Amino acid sequence: MADTVILSGIEASNALYDSLHTRIDTLKEKGVTPGLAAILVGENPASQIYVRNKTKKFDSLGLKSDIYRLSEDTKEEELLDLINKINNDDLFHGILVQLPLPKHIDSQKVIHAISPLKDVDGFHPENAGLVSIGNPRFIPCTPKGIMYVLKHFKIPIDGKHVVVVGRSNIVGRPVSVLSSLKSMGNATVTICHSGTPDLKEFTTQADIVVAAMGSAEFLDASFIKDGACLIDVGINRVERDGKSVIVGDVNEASVMGKASALTPVPKGIGPMTIAMLVENTVLSAELSTN
Ligand code: GUN
Repeated sequence: MADTVILSGIEASNALYDSLHTRIDTLKEKGVTPGLAAILVGENPASQIYVRNKTKKFDSLGLKSDIYRLSEDTKEEELLDLINKINNDDLFHGILVQLPLPKHIDSQKVIHAISPLKDVDGFHPENAGLVSIGNPRFIPCTPKGIMYVLKHFKIPIDGKHVVVVGRSNIVGRPVSVLSSLKSMGNATVTICHSGTPDLKEFTTQADIVVAAMGSAEFLDASFIKDGACLIDVGINRVERDGKSVIVGDVNEASVMGKASALTPVPKGIGPMTIAMLVENTVLSAELSTN
């Protein structure tokens, strides 16, 4: 049994933060402090934790971040008005509307309302389109974090077979596009999803599996080939020995010794998503001063 290398998102994100300090200092010399407006609608407990973790990181780096907390019954129009106000506020370079939104609000309409120049999530169609044609402005944070981890730990991508499980606009689709781009990955890519009849047929061929299906510990050793690298994007809350714990989409115990490397949950891709949100906000501030 070979050792499975644990790809620490703490280590990789710290490497990114080290590289951001000079960029942040240069902006501050110009009188610019990168600023994020995070909008949280409703009381979703997971969303509250995610938004707090994101803004805490901004605080610790001396960056500006404000959380706009709106009640669950906020009207779509009120949210659109707030976005419009922040679009025109020079103190904020990034706007993040935490998803999911309450059912009565049309998420696509909200995403369209964010200025593409402040869309640090990279969800606006203009930014998604720029990624698709290989000329990205803001790359969605989780896919960008995945590509950074692979590069940081020198996992070969060029010419490899990447199998992505999950086709969400937030993770699966953009990571499949990025890893196929000549400039970012140059991999051969397969996207699988809930409509794939025999998932194993594809995952067992993968050099790199990106597990982003949102199914607790679903991917065990029987799904992978020897030496595969596993990127686990899952954040699933489960009961274990009477305690509530977070697990990924990969069954870590099962794949140990078969996978060559894996990102742990927690402390894998989660910290990378936050790091890339900071990077995108710094980038947005830089673009605004050029
Ligand atoms: N919900 C789950 N992931 C994300 C994310 O990356 N950004 C936003 N805005 N909402 C999310």
